[in-house]
Amino acid sequence: MNMPMRTDQIITDWQPHFPALFGKHSLALGHSLATSPLFADDALARLIEATPREAYHVNYSQKTPGNPPKRREGEIKGLTGAEVLDVVRTGNIWINLTAPARTDPAYGELLDSLYAEFEERVPGFKSYKRNLTILISSPNVSVKYHADVPGQSLWQVRGTKKVYVYPNTPPFLSQPALEKLILGQARETDMPFEPWYDDYAEVHTLEAGKMLHWPLNGPHRVVNENMLNVSFTTEHWTDELRKHYAVNYANGILRSRAGIPHLNQNVSGLSYYAKLALAGLVKFSPLNPQKKKAYKVDFQVDPTAPEGIRDIEGYTYTK
Ligand SMILES: [Fe+2]
Repeated sequence: MNMPMRTDQIITDWQPHFPALFGKHSLALGHSLATSPLFADDALARLIEATPREAYHVNYSQKTPGNPPKRREGEIKGLTGAEVLDVVRTGNIWINLTAPARTDPAYGELLDSLYAEFEERVPGFKSYKRNLTILISSPNVSVKYHADVPGQSLWQVRGTKKVYVYPNTPPFLSQPALEKLILGQARETDMPFEPWYDDYAEVHTLEAGKMLHWPLNGPHRVVNENMLNVSFTTEHWTDELRKHYAVNYANGILRSRAGIPHLNQNVSGLSYYAKLALAGLVKFSPLNPQKKKAYKVDFQVDPTAPEGIRDIEGYTYTK
């Protein structure tokens, strides 16, 4: 069935065969948001200034070829949004605004309208617990190999970046590594990586006006080209994704508490329903191993410092 062409559509190059691919293979699509005022400098500057401490991360990693080393966590203090953007432009930092819709409902409306498009186009796709986060990052910054827990897409608004997407199966994503991630026992970027994984990666060049949606938990890493990058992520849940979450959650409990090494990932049948019950029991009881995350902050964004960051005495905050 061909979609009637609409002038207000966000996805600009949808094809009739895409529903068969959506969520199962990586799908690179064109979108109309590259010129959206929501991602222009003045809007981003306002958003940065209005964002509370618990709704952003600013990170720094030393520049190295390939998968970067562990990232450091920092803070923004006493700067205007425009000054922060100038540091991003010339320095070596990566800012993630994790809840812009809470600061400005316009981002929530955008999120709703783009999911409405997918739900209209992909039969049976129904999403909930959605979120949109904004990424503002320096030229040549890279994001370490990791996997995310919910369904994920990356939307490129300004600049260009390369996205490496790896299969969501072993050895790229081991079952125990996924379980630890889901149980909150490992940071997403703690996943083991080998340089030869790249031989099995799909490499997408995301230019402004392109987005990428990949299969659930697909490991990925990102490398900016030599300019300021503005992107946003969207994440969501569906009934199907929740089943995979529950089974891996229960498997993680069974592996770590009961020492059972071989666990299937079926999302139907008797073992699935037993695991669903187990996941429900554990998750809503004090046994829940999911803890608040602790972040050690050891730098401040500083326009006068090399790479835009100045070391400060480290402190820890949890959220
Ligand atoms: Fe990610």
